[in-house]
Amino acid sequence: MPVLLPEIDRTAPLPLATQIAGFYRRAIEDGRMRTGDRLPPIRTIAEACDVTRATVQDAYRRLAAEDLVAGTVGRGTVVLAQASATSSSDAARPLSPYAEAALLRSQEMSGAPPLPPGRALVANFAELAPDGARFPVAEWQAAMDTVLQQRGASVLGYGHATNGLPDLRALLAERTREVDAAITADDLLVTAGAQQALDLVLRTFCAPGDAVVLTSQSYHQMHGLLRAHGLQSIGVPFSENGIDLDVLERALRRQRVRLVYLMPTFHNPTGRSLDERQRHALMDVVARTGVPVVEDEYQCSLRVRGEPPPTLRSLDPRGLTVTVFTASKDLFPALRIGWIAGGSGLLQPMAAVKRFMDLETSALLQAALVEFLRAGHFDRYLGALRAELRVRHDALQRACRQHLPPGSTITAPDGGYVAWLELPKPGQGDRLAELAVERGVRVVPGRVFDLHGAPSRGVRLSLTRADRTQIEAGIAVLATCARELLASPAAARPFL
Ligand SMILES: Cc1ncc(COP(=O)(O)O)c(C=O)c1O
Repeated sequence: MPVLLPEIDRTAPLPLATQIAGFYRRAIEDGRMRTGDRLPPIRTIAEACDVTRATVQDAYRRLAAEDLVAGTVGRGTVVLAQASATSSSDAARPLSPYAEAALLRSQEMSGAPPLPPGRALVANFAELAPDGARFPVAEWQAAMDTVLQQRGASVLGYGHATNGLPDLRALLAERTREVDAAITADDLLVTAGAQQALDLVLRTFCAPGDAVVLTSQSYHQMHGLLRAHGLQSIGVPFSENGIDLDVLERALRRQRVRLVYLMPTFHNPTGRSLDERQRHALMDVVARTGVPVVEDEYQCSLRVRGEPPPTLRSLDPRGLTVTVFTASKDLFPALRIGWIAGGSGLLQPMAAVKRFMDLETSALLQAALVEFLRAGHFDRYLGALRAELRVRHDALQRACRQHLPPGSTITAPDGGYVAWLELPKPGQGDRLAELAVERGVRVVPGRVFDLHGAPSRGVRLSLTRADRTQIEAGIAVLATCARELLASPAAARPFL
């Protein structure tokens, strides 16, 4: 068995011993460590994680107090029978593994190195959250006023359908039919954003110890969410040729695979999309199994050119795919409104689970969104946003063609906010992020998105905050840094 070393987050508000104990507890509970397996020697962990031996001893003592492990002469610390894992006492473990994992990852919001003090910003390519300066504040206020005048107290109480207001679902279904022609209002479940939708999907389809297949680089909050649920992640490569179907096929055959998570359009972090042919080929492979798919279409409405391909859901003859949408990227995130499209056999259990989570999504905000859509504010706002995004994508491609040195590549998405700049060797992307921020350009290092936090070739560039001029200036800086990295092997040391 490979040595499992704990992941430590020194910025997390959780003592190091608790983090180490929590890591091995999860490993035991989700089956990565089995009865009789040896925990690494205390010295190994102390050295690898740069903590004192006393800290590791403290962590092992806690695990022993919970009957998860025991020290044995000659064999070190070994995992006890799994049955005792479930009998661990509450007194010894005040926080659930879910809460511990969430606490551990509560700091991982951006992942981009901060600008050094006094350094002027040249370009901010780090933020994926849309730019507040563009938000349609006055129009939203008008929609809220109309709702309160017309619907009054009826939108301020409990008692609305857990799956969402019927008039909102009807309007959302109409818009969703662009990518999923057969969808109706009954096929939608309104959620508190895409994040709740993803959590809901995991709660509905997976149990601790199960495995989820996803692209090797993925939305970083999903990594934390999977771990919090005690789920294993199995990575499949996603290149310009699409998802590696051979690897996918093998991954789907593995034990306890319960879900596939994909972003087929404007993938985070690379901006890549699967074209229609690739979607059909992918679903041919998946449809031979009974594994459900969740596709995260978090920014599919931000297309700036070309026709949208169909959703994976619409290509799944088994009816085992659900699609997650959100208003966070094409409107504003504080709305906390997303929606899941799926057949009733999947939506019903999800609605039941959601009821335990929050009873219902805010009826006030749902009703205001209905007004906002009916008044035409959304289409006007989205039209202007897409026009600006198109200018920015064009500026990005132009600047990259002009400045980037040979050996570096940039993806060319047909929309969405993100693109992926890649250098030839692992670690060079992470180094690039370090060098660039010293010169006023913020990008997110690729390792943030890697399933295992491995050194990355790439960086994610987001276009939410950089206008055309900043894009040109920012890419010129990134190109200079890339040239230095490519010329000097020493500068390419892996980012730690
Ligand atoms: C791929 C992806 N899915 C889901 C979300 C969460 O979105 P929401 O604000 O709707 O919860 C994000 C947020 O950045 C994201 O990038």
